[in-house]
Amino acid sequence: MSLPVKAHPDTIASSRTLVVGGTSGIGAAVVSATLANGGSVHISSSNPDKITAKIAEFKALYPSAPAVTGTAANLSDENTLEANVKNVLEEAVRSLDGPIDHLVYTAGDAFHPTPLSSVDPKTYFSGWTVRYLAPLLFAKTISTNPGTYLTISPSSSITLTSGVLSHKPIRGVSHFIGWAGAIEALSRGLAVDMAPVRCNVVSPGAIYTEMLAGMGEAAVEGFGKGTLRGSVGSAAECAEGYLFAMRSGFLTGEVVKVDGGALFA
Ligand SMILES: NC(=O)c1ccc[n+]([C@@H]2O[C@H](COP(=O)([O-])OP(=O)(O)OC[C@H]3O[C@@H](n4cnc5c(N)ncnc54)[C@H](OP(=O)(O)O)[C@@H]3O)[C@@H](O)[C@H]2O)c1
Repeated sequence: MSLPVKAHPDTIASSRTLVVGGTSGIGAAVVSATLANGGSVHISSSNPDKITAKIAEFKALYPSAPAVTGTAANLSDENTLEANVKNVLEEAVRSLDGPIDHLVYTAGDAFHPTPLSSVDPKTYFSGWTVRYLAPLLFAKTISTNPGTYLTISPSSSITLTSGVLSHKPIRGVSHFIGWAGAIEALSRGLAVDMAPVRCNVVSPGAIYTEMLAGMGEAAVEGFGKGTLRGSVGSAAECAEGYLFAMRSGFLTGEVVKVDGGALFA
């Protein structure tokens, strides 16, 4: 039996995506890639000025994009977290004129590596609020309001972010990387709990973003040497991992590693 070849489906065109962390780095590259493929995007981060500036940049880059809008929300305060998460979802649905098809979560606050000896049991988990607790509450709010914020379908997806350091640690990060391992476990749980909506994680290697650039040139060069290709990745290269997770209706509960072969270097 020979099955007919079909035109490849363009699943991003006409889709609605919320990118939390879409004002810089990996998230901004996911926004750019989604707009380039004809999707509408709502972006969120803590800084309203950055959102306004990025929206203007995206509109200039993609004048015929169906929509690019945004909502500011600081996701680092546990006291306001649940209300902020709900507000971002409400605004995304309102601005994009319907429930989103994809949630991409790349938000992460400043990373200040400290020695293991400085771990403080009272403050340790504060670093998990933006990277772990916030995406968990997005999933909770979406699943307790079925179909309101995210379309229930295997073509819908949630894509979270971990990092290569949880698979291949370097000296001095052991106390910090727990959230990344936990996000991968959470994603597998959500893939089961939220089916048929799919849930995956992208595990970036060293990607040249505002965050990595802030560590200085020597650090960037050092991270590049820790890959098979000899240089750090670009945000656009990393964004392809998120697009894969959004597009493939048969991918769920998986970790997409976009790390330049760092695990084998
Ligand atoms: N770049 C890498 O090499 C790399 C490698 C592995 C994993 N990762 C992880 O990937 C994620 C994205 O990294 P990136 O390099 O793209 O970082 P980035 O360029 O610094 O972008 C971080 C994003 O998070 C937002 N954000 C920060 N604090 C926030 C808060 N309190 N509430 C809401 N949004 C907040 C930022 O916007 P505002 O400042 O406006 O809030 C920005 O949009 C992070 O979790 C990072 O740990 C990065």
